[in-house]
Amino acid sequence: MELETPVIVINFKAYEQSFGESCLELARICERVAEEEKVSIAIAPPMTELSYIAKKVALPCFAQHCDAFGFGSHTGFTPVNAIKLSGAKGSLINHSEHRLKLADIEYCITKLREHELISIVCTNNTATTKAAAAIEPSFVAIEPPELIGTGIPVSKAKPEVVKSAVEAVKNISENVKILTGAGITKGEDVRAAIKLGTDGVLLASGVVKAKDPESVLRELASA
Ligand code: G3P
Repeated sequence: MELETPVIVINFKAYEQSFGESCLELARICERVAEEEKVSIAIAPPMTELSYIAKKVALPCFAQHCDAFGFGSHTGFTPVNAIKLSGAKGSLINHSEHRLKLADIEYCITKLREHELISIVCTNNTATTKAAAAIEPSFVAIEPPELIGTGIPVSKAKPEVVKSAVEAVKNISENVKILTGAGITKGEDVRAAIKLGTDGVLLASGVVKAKDPESVLRELASA
């Protein structure tokens, strides 16, 4: 499974707007914008909604997290094997808000690959980006945690971090694609991210918490 790039990945996180009817409404907006603006958009609804949303929309859906084990006696976790059954196309791994150990990241990437699913490993700086890239996930997504949810775009506030992560990944593997995220709310932020050598963006609050998510998303997509 491949994700068409450049791509806008929208992490719904656990905002109030991300559950129940409004989750489906948001997913449908993303689907409509992707289709009408002819852009690649993927979404990561919360785990409780994932399977339902994956059946309802023709967009690649991702889990926001998976855990490093198979089926069995585990409570409150998501075995990586379950991602395929949910209908999702892959999973975020190691988001700053849900970190994993390096060995667990490796397990999840490997298992997702075995199931022909896409892995998006989030990293917080160049060093962790290098470590993640060495395991060859489908994507690394560099997100300085201090900018998450601030509306201060990483592509403007920390272009050097994105640049150095892009360079590091390119030196490690040609197979790993790169996203960046944190504080992205406008088309110009997306444009700047792509200029820095990324294959797209990972964002959340700018769309999910917007008064009018559709117009924000259309503006982002126009970039
Ligand atoms: O996963 C995306 C994320 O952490 C960025 O969040 O709200 O700054 O777009 P936000």
